[in-house]
Amino acid sequence: RTVMGESLHAVTTMPTARQPGCPFDPPAELVDARRHGPISGYAFPGGQPGWLITGYDLVRSVLADSRFSSRKELMLHPTIDYGDIEIPPAPPGEFLLMDEPQHSRYRKPLMGKFTVRRMRLLTERVAQITADHLDAMEKAGPPADLVTAFAKPIPAIMICELLGVPYQDRKSFQEQVDSFMNGETSDEDLIAAYTATQDYLAELVATKRANPTDDVLSDLTDSDLTDEELKGIALILLAAGLDTTANMLALGTFALLRNPEQLAALRADPALADRAVEELLRYLSVAKTFMRTALEDVEVGGQTIKAGSPVILSYHTANRDPERFTAPHVLDLHRQDGGHLAFGHGIHQCLGQQLARVEMRVAFPALVSRFPTLRLAVPPEGVSLRPETADIYGVKSLPVTWDA
Ligand code: HEM
Repeated sequence: RTVMGESLHAVTTMPTARQPGCPFDPPAELVDARRHGPISGYAFPGGQPGWLITGYDLVRSVLADSRFSSRKELMLHPTIDYGDIEIPPAPPGEFLLMDEPQHSRYRKPLMGKFTVRRMRLLTERVAQITADHLDAMEKAGPPADLVTAFAKPIPAIMICELLGVPYQDRKSFQEQVDSFMNGETSDEDLIAAYTATQDYLAELVATKRANPTDDVLSDLTDSDLTDEELKGIALILLAAGLDTTANMLALGTFALLRNPEQLAALRADPALADRAVEELLRYLSVAKTFMRTALEDVEVGGQTIKAGSPVILSYHTANRDPERFTAPHVLDLHRQDGGHLAFGHGIHQCLGQQLARVEMRVAFPALVSRFPTLRLAVPPEGVSLRPETADIYGVKSLPVTWDA
């Protein structure tokens, strides 16, 4: 197999770690794969031949192509061989892992709830929640873990309010959700936490149907969606919206602290926030890889991807593609070349992106202006990072300090 006259580069295993000292850059093997060309061969752990796409244009074109499927039951795992186990289709409502027309059945009624306008209306609420958490951090005094004090609670409260999780249930609900998403929980505890969350959401849907309140879930009870489907939708909103934004806030702060001139630029000019958020999204790409499966033979970058072949799309290397972005490995909050793929592209493009943007545009400038002397409380190599195998990349904790 060849790419543009050269022999096709092949990647045999997905990297499990990043280069020491480069916590924000994609693993060296993936950057190297992109250097060889935008598409590489990839041998899946069960021996099935597949593809790894690392170039911006090709990732974007696959995402826009309905000949590539997101169906859960067709997907192989890039690092785990499930052998002969049949993967079931996504449960009702979990539309991230569905194709049309099922996907639209769920996404359509939600679209109007996540528009730019609606999300902008939430700016004040996000500012209030952010200020409350910064007050608490300041009051408790240094040091603090930025993950628990700031990065996790802001998106968690916003999602709870959108879904209409009553105030008294929030703490236990957040703990449950956290333990099935932090990638650290034992299998047994993970299943227990996942089941408890499912049970809670089932109850919540029933409550909203009986007594609708002013939230997205209650609004959706006024449609033909079943309780089971509503539970699936709530679960996908949680799974997609909590961990991603929380990791962007924490890893983004780490990246700013490691690039003091960029942090200073944001502190000096809060109007830079919109652009800064887009650049942090591109640079960090915490939702780093997604899978697709070819439904028929498709030509991509001079290669024929056979029907049934699995394809790994590396959003992170796409967002660091030197043919698309000038000095791609530099964090430059003033960058002019936009159009990153950190929220994906095509029919599955992130539904919650406007909410995530509002949260980050408020939270980053508020944090850096509240604590002008904010710094790491440990050496940078002492910050514990999530393993590359986690779906969403980030830090496990971020010890910070400041002059009180
Ligand atoms: C889909 C990233 C925040 C809800 C996606 C996809 C990406 C992504 C890359 C596309 C997946 C694919 O191509 O298969 C992010 C990042 C976030 C973020 C980086 C934070 C910075 C949120 C929030 C919510 C949310 C706050 C909800 C409140 C969703 C949903 C989908 C999705 C429901 C599935 C859309 C579909 O399949 O049609 N997200 N997301 N996300 N995201 Fe986000």
